[in-house]
Amino acid sequence: MTTGSNTSPSADRPLLVLGIESSCDETAAGIVRRSGAGQGVILSNVVRSQWEEHRAYGGVVPEIAARAHAECLDEITGAALAGAGVALSDLDAVAATAGPGLNGGLVAGLVTAKALALANAKPFIAVNHLEAHALTVGLTEGLVPPYLLLLVSGGHTQLLLVRGTGRYERLGTTIDDALGEAFDKTAKLLGLGFPGGPAVERWALAGNAARFDLPRPLLGRDDAHFSFAGLKTALRHRAAALEPLAERDVADLCAAFEAAVCDCVADRVTRAMAIFEERVGRDVARHLVIAGGVAANKRLRSALETLSAAHGYGLHVPPAALCTDNGAMIAWAGAERLALGLTDPLDFAAKPRWPLDVNAPPAAGAGVKA
Ligand code: KG4
Ligand code: ZN
Repeated sequence: MTTGSNTSPSADRPLLVLGIESSCDETAAGIVRRSGAGQGVILSNVVRSQWEEHRAYGGVVPEIAARAHAECLDEITGAALAGAGVALSDLDAVAATAGPGLNGGLVAGLVTAKALALANAKPFIAVNHLEAHALTVGLTEGLVPPYLLLLVSGGHTQLLLVRGTGRYERLGTTIDDALGEAFDKTAKLLGLGFPGGPAVERWALAGNAARFDLPRPLLGRDDAHFSFAGLKTALRHRAAALEPLAERDVADLCAAFEAAVCDCVADRVTRAMAIFEERVGRDVARHLVIAGGVAANKRLRSALETLSAAHGYGLHVPPAALCTDNGAMIAWAGAERLALGLTDPLDFAAKPRWPLDVNAPPAAGAGVKA
């Protein structure tokens, strides 16, 4: 990305950064101390989920999300500062998610961060939410790029070559639904509630995946893109044919869905590994990182463990609380940018769409997510 302005690089001195996240349905703030490349400590990480507000609607309602963020941002930010034992005057910068995400929530978080930065004469850093997911493993494990990243959340499904802060090459993306969205829609269809991923996973444990032969979209294709719409539709048809659904049907459908997802993701990641190796060279250490809420899925994780071992990759998955949306990852991405001397002006506008790799061509599909 080329948005930041260059101030004096601060790579060698400890940096204390507050990060604010409000791009979707979690209001979060965290404080991180960075003392060098791959050296970060989380001093606080406060997350308030809005699930209760959205549950009745079966998905995130943008207006409700924006209002809920605005109502609790001050309290969450205050709790992060108090929890870390840090005063605003101690900070080196204030960072906030500026995109991609829901505009109303982004604006609420940005206004809070900019006001704090202005009132305390601190630099402001506009963070790309996807970059924060991409760099989290540097905070949790000290892993430094290059590495291959599989980002699987409710809004995004991407394979990225992470070369460094601000340096990303998109190797694959979904041409329709995000993987988390496919889990959520499947859960809704089967009456399992929201968010759907954990519910589908629980039901799948008791199911027989072999009972339904669901499609594996894009399997074997030469690129590293994803598609889940056809899988979801096939599942809907199978479910409709069985109405009314018995518990056994729901469990078997969930298991078949998860099995199809694992096959698709493993195939696409295998393709991305080959592209990764072509681009970085075969002598570079191989690391696969999974981030985003769907990384919590145990069957997917174990499929990728097997795959990584077979291809000589180390597999890295941040702990669940740092895979899902949180403030510490925004603070860490802010600190990484600050270390490079990258800060942003206070008129930096929210970017509901903000691809990490601006050079990636659009992937052909019905509803492409950047
Ligand atoms: O990263 P995240 O917390 O928020 C977004 O930025 O979207 O991801 C939330 C998504 C939801 O779609 C949720 O259903 C999914 O992650 N998810 C899971 C699991 N836990 C959360 N999907 C499958 N299995 C899980 N255990
Ligand atoms: Zn996220």
